[in-house]
Amino acid sequence: MTEIDYKNEYCMHTATCGELRMGDCGREVTLTGWAWHNRDHGGLIFVDLRDRAGYTQVVVDPDCVTPEEFAVAEHFSREDVLKVTGKVRERGPEAVNPNMITGEIEVLASAIEVLNKSVTPPFSIEDGIETDETTRMKWRYLDIRRPEMLANLKLRHQVVTAMRSALNKRDFLEIETPILANSTPEGARDYIVPSRPNPGKFYALPQSPQQFKQMLMVGGVERYYQIARCFRDEDLRADRQPEFTQVDIEMSFVQGDDVIDMMEDVMRETLEAVGVEHPFPLQRMQYAEAMDRFGCDRPDVRFGMELVDLTDIVRGCGFAVFAKAVENGGVVKAINCKGAGNWSRGEVEKLGDLAAENGAKGMAWIAFTSEDAELKGKSPIIKFFEDDVYARLKEAMGVEAGDLLLFAADKPEIANTVLGALRLRMADALNIPREGHALLWVVNFPMFRYDEDEKKYAAEHHPFTMIREEDQDKIEDAPLECGSYSYDLVMDGFEAGGGTIRIHTPELQRRVLRRCGLTDEQIDEKFGHLIHALELGAPPHGGIALGLDRLVMLLAGKDSIRDVIAFPKTSSASDPMTGAPSEVTERQLKEVSLCPL
Ligand code: AMO
Ligand code: AMP
Repeated sequence: MTEIDYKNEYCMHTATCGELRMGDCGREVTLTGWAWHNRDHGGLIFVDLRDRAGYTQVVVDPDCVTPEEFAVAEHFSREDVLKVTGKVRERGPEAVNPNMITGEIEVLASAIEVLNKSVTPPFSIEDGIETDETTRMKWRYLDIRRPEMLANLKLRHQVVTAMRSALNKRDFLEIETPILANSTPEGARDYIVPSRPNPGKFYALPQSPQQFKQMLMVGGVERYYQIARCFRDEDLRADRQPEFTQVDIEMSFVQGDDVIDMMEDVMRETLEAVGVEHPFPLQRMQYAEAMDRFGCDRPDVRFGMELVDLTDIVRGCGFAVFAKAVENGGVVKAINCKGAGNWSRGEVEKLGDLAAENGAKGMAWIAFTSEDAELKGKSPIIKFFEDDVYARLKEAMGVEAGDLLLFAADKPEIANTVLGALRLRMADALNIPREGHALLWVVNFPMFRYDEDEKKYAAEHHPFTMIREEDQDKIEDAPLECGSYSYDLVMDGFEAGGGTIRIHTPELQRRVLRRCGLTDEQIDEKFGHLIHALELGAPPHGGIALGLDRLVMLLAGKDSIRDVIAFPKTSSASDPMTGAPSEVTERQLKEVSLCPL
């Protein structure tokens, strides 16, 4: 983050608590802020006064203030709100605090006013506290006073400012779209809102402004953006909130490369604005390659431990589990976890639970202890391998003493997913350094996936995504073979953004929606407005949405997006501060035709 240069206008103070330096010595200033750390040093009282810009040491000397003021200073409590006037002076050399940006000076108070007293706060207003998160969220305004939380909000502001400026410079118009809207499919459940004048009818809060931004393109806007609030009723995790913010973008008369190039320029300027260096242009990795090498579509490329395909080596080998998997059209792949070769059998086999959660039927392994100079290996499966197969396998895996190999033998999708999950688990367990940031594009996702629960095909991104021309005749008969014009911006192993080129002709849109299981009647009812718009001169268009919360979380080096959202929700989608969600009166329910049971 770069420092913000705060002005001292329209307020009670003449300097912030973060700006005074040696050059200000002799200046008379008025500071306002919160009493932070108070110390009584034999007649002199020291207070660190804190505001959003930093903190400054104030000295209260009984010779320089009235006896009444001194008495007040003797009873300062933490978090009292103060206004202090005084002269800036140099601290004695033994009193200089090199850890404090204002640590060379102090302000000798000549007038003190307590603007408001504070009762004892429920937790201390310090960085690095271990207070549980629900308590912090219940008193969020206090949590925000902590310098690290305030720094996160400043960083977020800087990121948004830089993005707005980069987009404005490129002729994008910032346009708001409705919050009371209709359902748009982004793969989550909707939040619904009853409409009082239309009994029995509901709005859906937007999961994204997807359809509206496409309508804006049909409306001739050509370049749109919005810092858009989105709502998704889905299972919450550290990187998911029920309401979150997208930097939502759409462009007309473009192809995929245009959106990617534009986004890279915006990202480059944004990262520069917050002092983060990253090489551009970004790598573009095919979806298939990401799955093959990293076992997931949002690879953390800051470390190796890549998946190695051993299918050809173990084809027809003596270990029946592997040989059978290959015979049935599957693959055998493995990762090499360097540094885990001395793990106990119990520790290794516990990893099998993670493999099973990801669909594995088993998890074979071979360990090479750090003393195993001859690389004999330890594992119940070694005895089944022919010598040459074992030697080639070790060579392919680059085995050294101290390594642990983990194997998956299955359909490619399952083997990749299993090893992708194990790779991340092992990186955590082995504390593999993942410093700095790594941004890349993952492109060309499949258009459809088969939803096992619903027993139907669904769009991998969303059903407005353009299918590659060469695959458009496969929609009906071989949907899983259809590629799409899609691109995800991946950062440090997270999906930081995603977008696609859109379908802009009505017939193709109908075919895709039909393939997703909708009848023509349902298409007309739910997406009639979109189909009409596509019949009325829709330009070729495409766009992207960045997950602002995730981006700021990663730039702030935090593990949860809750740390970069002023008022987030808990994992059960509630707000401990306001008590939302809460009950409503019977009358309110009746008004919207929702009578209580
Ligand atoms: P998508 O669904 O991929 O695309 O969302 C875009 C980005 O939004 C972020 N994101 C979230 N962040 C926090 N909490 C959530 N629950 C959450 N869900 C998504 C992610 C994600 O990459 N309309 C399309 C975009 C387009 O095609 O232009 C869309 O919404 O960082
Ligand atoms: P089994 O013959 O089922 O006792 O399995 C022998 C070893 O292979 C055990 O360590 C299993 O965990 C492992 N294993 C079984 N199925 C698979 C699979 N699909 N992929 C990887 N390892 C497996």
